[in-house]
Formats: sequence, C-alpha cells, structure tokens
Amino acid sequence: MALQDEDTVSNPSNNPTLSDIAEIDLSRRRAMQGGLAAAMAAAFGLPAFTWAREAQIVPSAGLGGGGGPLLGFGGVAVSTDDLVRVPAGYEVQVLYAWGDPISNGPAFAPDASNSAEDQAIQAGMHHDGIHFFPFPKLGSGLSSTHGLLCINNEYTDDGLLHVGGMDPWTAEKVRKSQNAHGVSIVEVRLEQGAWHVVRPSRWARRITGNTPIKVVGPAAGHDLLKTAADTEGRRVLGTLNNCAHGRTPWGTYLTCEENWNGYFSKETGTPTTDEARYGINKGGFGYRWHEHDERFLADLHPNEPNRFGWVVEIDPFNPRRIPEKKTALGRFKHEGAMVTLANDGRVVVYMGDDERNEYLYKFVSKNKYKPGLRHANLGLLNEGTLYVAKFEAGAAEGDQQGTGQWLPLIHGKLGLTAENGFNSQAEVLVKTRQAADRVGATMMDRPEWIAVHPETGEVYVTLTNNNRRGSSPASSNKVDGTTTAGSARPPVDEANPRASNVFGHIVRWREAGGNAAATHFEWDVFVLAGDSANADPSKQGNVNGDDFGSPDGLWFDRDGRLWIQTDVSTSTLNKGDYANLGNNQMLVADPATREIRRFLTGPKGCEITGVVGTPDGTSLFVNVQHPGEPASERSDPANPEGVSSWPHSQGYGPKGRPRSATIVIRRADGGVVGGA
Ligand code: FEO
Ligand code: CA
Ligand code: CA
Ligand code: CA
Repeated sequence: MALQDEDTVSNPSNNPTLSDIAEIDLSRRRAMQGGLAAAMAAAFGLPAFTWAREAQIVPSAGLGGGGGPLLGFGGVAVSTDDLVRVPAGYEVQVLYAWGDPISNGPAFAPDASNSAEDQAIQAGMHHDGIHFFPFPKLGSGLSSTHGLLCINNEYTDDGLLHVGGMDPWTAEKVRKSQNAHGVSIVEVRLEQGAWHVVRPSRWARRITGNTPIKVVGPAAGHDLLKTAADTEGRRVLGTLNNCAHGRTPWGTYLTCEENWNGYFSKETGTPTTDEARYGINKGGFGYRWHEHDERFLADLHPNEPNRFGWVVEIDPFNPRRIPEKKTALGRFKHEGAMVTLANDGRVVVYMGDDERNEYLYKFVSKNKYKPGLRHANLGLLNEGTLYVAKFEAGAAEGDQQGTGQWLPLIHGKLGLTAENGFNSQAEVLVKTRQAADRVGATMMDRPEWIAVHPETGEVYVTLTNNNRRGSSPASSNKVDGTTTAGSARPPVDEANPRASNVFGHIVRWREAGGNAAATHFEWDVFVLAGDSANADPSKQGNVNGDDFGSPDGLWFDRDGRLWIQTDVSTSTLNKGDYANLGNNQMLVADPATREIRRFLTGPKGCEITGVVGTPDGTSLFVNVQHPGEPASERSDPANPEGVSSWPHSQGYGPKGRPRSATIVIRRADGGVVGGA
C-alpha cells in the first residue's frame, strides 16, 4: 500500500503508514499508562510526593537496559582539544557539515565563496535541535539504518559565512545569511559500516529565512500580524533562530524560534513597551539585515516582529507541505517544544522561554490524538489552552522541592482583560510574555530544553544560568508587562535557589495524578551544576559524578538515560569559574541514582546541542555547533581558523574554516550507545 497524503506526495516505499510510526513511538508510554503506572501509583500512594519512586526506574524494571547498569561506559576527562572525544569502544563519524549539499547540488567552498543561491540548497550554519524520523521497515517496525534527519540551523557567524566577512556588507550577503538559517531535512542511511547523506533524495529540503510559512491558530489573520506584504496576516516569509525542537506522535517536526528579536532594528525613536518586552532595540544583535531588507526595520514594518517567536510545524515526509506557525503555543523566545500525551490522549507540549527571568509554559490541546488519523492530528496544535508555571515552596521552606500550578492564559480570566491591554485571545498569544507577567508566573533561570521520562512521565528542564538574580535592589517583571526583556533582578526562590547562578541547574516535576494535562504538580531540584573545586561554596554544585555547567540540551533515550549537553558561552569557556571544565560537552544522568557521567567533549569554541538516537539505540546523532567561535562570537574573516579547524581536524572535509556539523556515534561492538 502506498502512503498518499493530502498534498499528493506519495511514499514510494510500499510501507506502513506514518501513523504506525506514531504508534510505535508512544507504545512504551501507553503500556505504562495502562499497567505499571497504575500499579506504581497504588503502591506509592500518589499523589503523595516522593522521589523514592525513582527506585522503579532502574532498567531491570523493564526499560530495556538488559539488566545491567544504566550508565555502561567509562567517563571521559574534560578536554580543551580541537576534537570530539568519546569513551573507549566508541567511534565518531562526521556526517553533515555546514555547506554540504542537501541533495545533488553545489559542494562546500572552503573559502566561503558559495553564493546565496548555493546556500539555499546546502546545510545551514549552527546546527541545533535534531530529530531522526525513521522510515518503516519492510514487514514491521522502524528502521534504524534509514530515515530523515531534521536539523535546526539556528544562526550565523557572518565573519565566517562570507568572503571578507561583513566588509563590504551587501544585499547578496544578507540573502546568504537568511538562507543559512532555518531547518535542514536530509535523508540518511547506514550502509557498508558508515552513515551517508543520500544524494539525490526526494525528501531533501531546506527551509530558510525566506520560505513561505502559513500562520494558523487563534492569532492567524489578526491585525497585529498584518503587514504591507501580507495584508491577510496569514503568510510569513521564513523562520529564524531555530533553536531546540520537538516531534509529534503523528510524525511531524517542531522547530522553535528563539532569539528572533535580534534580527530587527528599531532605528529611530524608542521601542514601544511591547517591543521592549521582547528585546527589540536599535541594531538588534548586529545582523544588519535591515540595511538591505527593510522587512527587518521595525520602524517601517512594526508588525513584522509579531510574525516571529512561534513554534513551526514541518512535515518532513511531505516536501510540498507548507510549514505552519502554531500561534496557539504562544509567542516568546521558544527554546524547544517537548510533546507528550495526557492520560486521555490530549496532546501536551512543554516549552521554555530562554531569557533571564522568563517562564515555563505548557500547551494542552482541545482535541485528542487519534492514532491513524493523520489529517486530523495535523490540526491538534491549533486549538487548546496555553498555561504558564508558578512554582511554590510547598510544605517546607528551603528544601528545594515544592508544589506548583499551571496558570491558564485565557482571555477574560486572571486579569487578561481589555482594560489590561488584552482585547482577545489572539492578543494574549501575541503578547504571551505580558500575559504571563499579569497572571504571576515564576521567573526562572533561563529555561532551555525539556525532556519527559519515557515511562514515568516525569518532566525535566535545564535552567542554563542566570547572572541577574539575587542582586540588590530586587525587581520583578512588572505585572503590567512594561519590563524590558531580561532587565529584572528577582530575589532567589526555591526553584531558582542561587544568586548569580553561573553554573545553572536542572529542575524536574511530576504532574498531579501522573497526568500531563493536570493543573498542579510537585517538583524538586534534580541537580545544581558546578565545579566542586570552586573556592566559592555556592558555585560547587551537588553533582554526583562529573562536574559541568550551563546545561542546555536535554533528551531521554529509550532506556531512560538522561543526556545533558552544555552551552558555556565562548566568552567564559575555559577561564574564570569555568577554568576547570574544558570545552562544551555531553553527559549522561541516571535519574534514579542521580549519577552523572561525562560521555563526550567537543572541539574548541563549540557548543554541543542536539541529540537523538535510532530506534534501536545503536546510533546517536549529535550536533556540534559553532566550533571555532571566538569570545567575541564573530570570527575574524582574515583568520577563520584562528580558534578551530574542526571538523577538518577530525578528518572531515577540506581545510579552510570550522563548520558546525552533525556527527554519529556508534559502539565498535554494535551495542546500545551509553548502555552496558
Ligand atoms: Fe538557542 Fe537557548 O539556546
Ligand atoms: Ca519547599
Ligand atoms: Ca539551547
Ligand atoms: Ca544556548
């Protein structure tokens, strides 16, 4: 049977439908909800809150770990080498680097002479969130040797991207920079002992800063989204600053717009309070697009910024399907979109707003996921309730655990009224930050990725760091929404317990009744990151195992190992408080014992961000972002290899300039990556 969907692209591979992929993806969780979860709830008297229940999460309880220890590898030491290092018995292969063609197309030019047109069909820059969508296997099950990789290309280093960097600055360079943003979809296959990008591929696709995208959900067509070029407010060009990601049970990819404000400039006059709340100002982050593309001049096109800051849904299996900005999920600096299911089948999406003292959100769909009804499922993220988290101290003060509530952001409730500046649900969603200010959400230490344990449903979030807390005088995001982004200086609280939190931490919570749609939860601090050798006790952390700081990427594998990736900024890497911690890295935590062991260290000047495995767990895809980034965060075009020559230094591609890349990690013995 051939798969045929609504836009008439058929699956040529005579395979099960994509809904089967969804079913398999969630089978563990469903089994859990039907059996073990109920037994555990009874045994431990839920909702009485105790992390002693963790004892049930060891692999021998049925998580597929084969009965051995969850962390089955020898940890690696910190490193400042210009190489990816992994444990003994593991192999690293570079698969897909900035500038590589996505299909048959122009090869990467190591002198950066590829045109804007070339760049639109090559790998973008600064790989971030990633998901592997396996093809169904002939017969049954999912392939672990053939699938589609969706990869975010978050932002650009324009010192590296162009011949001569930003001098001179031209319209062609702006277009090339826009084309190096967005998402890559490439077909990959394991054959003859190595992974390859399949070229040519009918699935290969780039979505860039100029790709047409439909606006859907409650804010679609609202006046605040209308521009001179789009008088209907329903069609945006491009997606930008695609940071972390999500995937749905129905086989689509979610890409999240994070620091989109940085592309706009308000050249004249003062930013409005709404612009200031999202950090729009003169010059932005120095991308200078507005000099050659007036769309990014907020003075002339004040509604264009309202068209960014959303989660975008992409169907990787249908290259002709137009991506959609999902306005029901709110507008902020979206880090990621972790999708799970409520007990009744409604879809729940957990999301962080990554800026100092911003909030944690979740969306609960109105309608239920229906296995096999893909067309209906494609609309599930268009209607539902958006909530924001409030963390409370709970029964005892100072024990780094407590209770919490999900506060609904619904027009007409909790002060989200016309007299407070919210005339409709569409306005609540366009001004999500201001709505969250109004209802009294908890300011967090930069929420980054979120991961849901595959069996218990417990939710973990990385809070990467925050240097704007605990100072005097204290200030909070104002209830009237007039705070300039990132300017508050709140006091510490139990969920964000450290002033000047330079190393970050991980918080986890359990929804009431184990139901992801619940409006109450209980939480604790999973780990305070740090350097145990730091002279300042407040910076030593409480890591059981290998020290680290600035946790960002977070992902649970099929066996319940929690993979943690770090994003220490290149301005602080390997010096000061971070002098002992080496290059950015990836570690693995055992949620039951809280042991954390270092698995990978990256090359010089990189961030490690984005990780996903094949269904059988034997291949792990990881992204190395911006190797060679100098402390100034923009490379010197006269000396592009001043910091790093990776991945050339690891045997991949020509010498010339460092390149973000997707790598694959496998075990020499073919076993499960990370396992015993
Ligand atoms: Fe793009 Fe918050 O990291
Ligand atoms: Ca408490
Ligand atoms: Ca991140
Ligand atoms: Ca980051």
